[in-house]
Amino acid sequence: MLELVAVSLAAVHFGIPLVYYWYAKTRWLPKPWNIEINDSYTPKVTIIVPTYREADIIVGRLDNIRSQDYPGDLTEIIVVDSGSDDGTADIVEEWASQHEDVNLRLIREDKREGKAKALNHALNYASGDIVIIADADATWPSNSMREAVKWLADPTVGAVSCLKRPNISGPAEVEEGYRHYYNMLRIAESKAYSTPIFHGELAAFRKDLLEEVGGFPTDIGADDSHTAARIALMGYRAIIPEGLWIEERVPRRGYGMWRVRRAQHLIQHFIKLLGEDLGTKGRNKEFRKIVKVEAFLHLINPWILLIAFSLLLVGAAQSSLGSVLMLTVGVVALVVRMYRVWVLQQLNLLVAALRNLVTRELVWSKQAKV
Ligand code: GDD
Ligand code: MN
Repeated sequence: MLELVAVSLAAVHFGIPLVYYWYAKTRWLPKPWNIEINDSYTPKVTIIVPTYREADIIVGRLDNIRSQDYPGDLTEIIVVDSGSDDGTADIVEEWASQHEDVNLRLIREDKREGKAKALNHALNYASGDIVIIADADATWPSNSMREAVKWLADPTVGAVSCLKRPNISGPAEVEEGYRHYYNMLRIAESKAYSTPIFHGELAAFRKDLLEEVGGFPTDIGADDSHTAARIALMGYRAIIPEGLWIEERVPRRGYGMWRVRRAQHLIQHFIKLLGEDLGTKGRNKEFRKIVKVEAFLHLINPWILLIAFSLLLVGAAQSSLGSVLMLTVGVVALVVRMYRVWVLQQLNLLVAALRNLVTRELVWSKQAKV
């Protein structure tokens, strides 16, 4: 009996994401974008680089942004630093004085109150039609701005983000199979309508819409994803297109905590999103579906696995042969990389949910990524 319940729960836990994957891949992914791309669309763009203790990498990042093949006179860079004590702001000032051709404004906050507050602060000074959030830990190929902006030429598109590739192998490499699953879903959801998961390493928004949603939310961590989802709920598309790859620096130490913190923020995002008006009709229909499934996958599904596992433990303690067998299969299967990565991600989400009860990590500790 115990085993039957456990197997059913496991079937739900693994079945729902598999069915969703299959559905997204066969129904949504082949769809046309239905977006009028314009390669020669060149609006004024404001790039906001939020920094907290980025002295080691900020010069490379500014050089990287400067080498974008986008007209310099249509690019404004705002670096907003939240009182870093490692000289980040001074380095930026120095860089600006060496590159007077670049339109750069530095905002020094004396107090650190988190990334979202800093972004909102910078937004007050942004003069572009498009605002792109550009985390310091990202490296963009030189065509990234163009590749993002061309989609925003279509008035139905409100926000565009990227696909991420880790800069090193090592812990990040383990993610490859999972990344494939994850990226395919982002693109498929975008084709269906919009994806509720964005990346601050490159997240472009129409500025009028950012203003309409009141800037970035400061009560949750996933400011980028949440803002994109709000824009999608307003009836504009928030998409991640296929070709827009950027490279992200991955911490060599504290990798596990890094994953947990990000999971904490995603959980906060989905809880907040479910509390918002998802609308009842019209073009948001697909997005409502997407939000519900993703919320289920992030908020509930990990617990189903935990319950199934616990039931089998109880069974094994009562020396039920069935439970012992099934537990063994579940554990031995960890040699399969994709399964292992999946289970690890479930663990991340479980730890993150519990950790959210203690701290929301809205101001998080800096992990070295050099
Ligand atoms: N101004 C300012 N103030 N910037 C900050 C602060 C702050 O308090 N905290 C972090 N930043 C900056 C970092 O310097 C970096 O440029 C960017 O925000 C992202 O922070 P990281 O510490 O590098 O975090 P990450 O790579 O794990 O971030 C990912 O997850 C976050 C949510 O957990 C990205 O997807 C972020 O965009 C996302 O906000
Ligand atoms: Mn990052």
